[in-house]
Amino acid sequence: MQEVAKYLIKVNAEFKDGQIVPEISPEEVMRLVNEPNIVIIKTGIPEAVLRNVIETTRAWAAKTPLAEGPDTFDNNQHKQRLHIAKIQQAPQLFHDHTFDAILDLEQPAQQNLLQVFDPMRRFWNSLTGNNEPYGVRKGEPYFHPQVTHYPLGGSFFGRHWHPLNPQKVGTILALNQYGQDYHSGGTGYVINDHIVETEGYQDMGDMILFRYDLPHWVSPSSFADRFSWDDPAGRWVAILPFYNPWGTPADYKEPQGWKEQIVQAKEVTA
Ligand SMILES: [Fe+2]
Repeated sequence: MQEVAKYLIKVNAEFKDGQIVPEISPEEVMRLVNEPNIVIIKTGIPEAVLRNVIETTRAWAAKTPLAEGPDTFDNNQHKQRLHIAKIQQAPQLFHDHTFDAILDLEQPAQQNLLQVFDPMRRFWNSLTGNNEPYGVRKGEPYFHPQVTHYPLGGSFFGRHWHPLNPQKVGTILALNQYGQDYHSGGTGYVINDHIVETEGYQDMGDMILFRYDLPHWVSPSSFADRFSWDDPAGRWVAILPFYNPWGTPADYKEPQGWKEQIVQAKEVTA
């Protein structure tokens, strides 16, 4: 375990029998997350497995028409996002692939994706004390496995936040390598009025953990590159949101909100 910058802590892990086993206990990891800090887990998931997720996603997207219209949260779809979120007014430009029905994917695509999402799911369950399976459950929280591509030349995601529960801890796994596959862009956070930029600190296979109610964003890929939706170059990540899409969205009000929630969380766990 090592503090590599203020509020940024790296934790080693072993990848054993398809499971991410950190060098410290899940309870200790969550204590660091809730302080709060940004925790980077060196998962040890092999490069071939990670790159296979990108290749599988690209092959699936190539034969799957882009989704149009409002999200239904009950299928496998991909969308080129370019808009400003309604409530939080967060602008965004990226290409996401959401596998809410991951168990309905054909083989071997399903197996290839699960090689990464299943370790993430089990790890998140161990951190939060849950034992959640995949699958759509109307009116309840459930997993929304997502592979996100941030193309070169100006992709980004503006500052936004989420309700703390039921996710508690957000997970962002790097599927390719900063400095090699892409040269700019990464997730940023605000902790105690201090800006924590993780760009350059997250290697391929590293999974960022963050308190879900921290304001966060994705810094842009360099405008020096030419933008193209069709060019697979750029940053690729896997995330595993857990929420009820028909539940109450995050409030427009932000800064006092999350500080109050941290106090409340301490009272609850005390
Ligand atoms: Fe987010």
